[in-house]
Amino acid sequence: MSEIKSTNIHWHEGDITRDERWRALKSKGATVWFTGLSGSGKSTIGSAVEQALVNQGVFCYRLDGDNVRFGLNKNLGFSAEDRAENIRRIGEVAKLFCDAGVIALTSFISPYRKDRDLCRQMHAEAKPSALPFIEIYVDTPIEVCESRDPKGLSKKARAGQIKGFTGIDDPYEAPNNPELALKTAELSVQQSVAKVIDLLAAKGVISKK
Ligand code: ADX
Repeated sequence: MSEIKSTNIHWHEGDITRDERWRALKSKGATVWFTGLSGSGKSTIGSAVEQALVNQGVFCYRLDGDNVRFGLNKNLGFSAEDRAENIRRIGEVAKLFCDAGVIALTSFISPYRKDRDLCRQMHAEAKPSALPFIEIYVDTPIEVCESRDPKGLSKKARAGQIKGFTGIDDPYEAPNNPELALKTAELSVQQSVAKVIDLLAAKGVISKK
């Protein structure tokens, strides 16, 4: 789904630049892309980072796997093709948030490297200039995810009641070179949040405290 189906369409530039918008709104966009197994802690950490950023007055918005599948992506399931389309759409939506000057916090398993790389590429190729794409690997061993099993889904998958469950009978491809990896089996949620906030400050996405 990377080709453009429409014909006779023309890009309309608008009257203000991204720089003007960001400066006027005192805001900077970035996409913070959490990836990891189901139960790894993506939503928990994403939500806690959102709270920390909002407390600092930073405009951010969370896009969460399960939630987005109730609306925008309600027509997608868990086949490889649907997962790819899920991630492509979220990449595009995050890019729009980013361009608007919002920090998009995305929590999706996003199991396939090439789909995440496509999202990175769309941010790199954004016009008029690249937008920050920060990939965070929520690196939690499958045994720990299964012992947490917050939604009881691993148990169902092990019992054969869910087919194609990531990490059990569907693959998860860990990032080779993420901007940050969080070993949540060894870190508290607040320690993980602090690492994300420090990274955003180091990259100049938010101001240093
Ligand atoms: S992704 O693979 O396309 O990135 P996404 O993050 O949107 O997945 O959704 C994953 C969530 O859907 C899981 O946290 C879990 O609650 C639920 N889920 C239901 N079926 C599956 C499945 N077969 N594999 C993984 N997650 C599933």
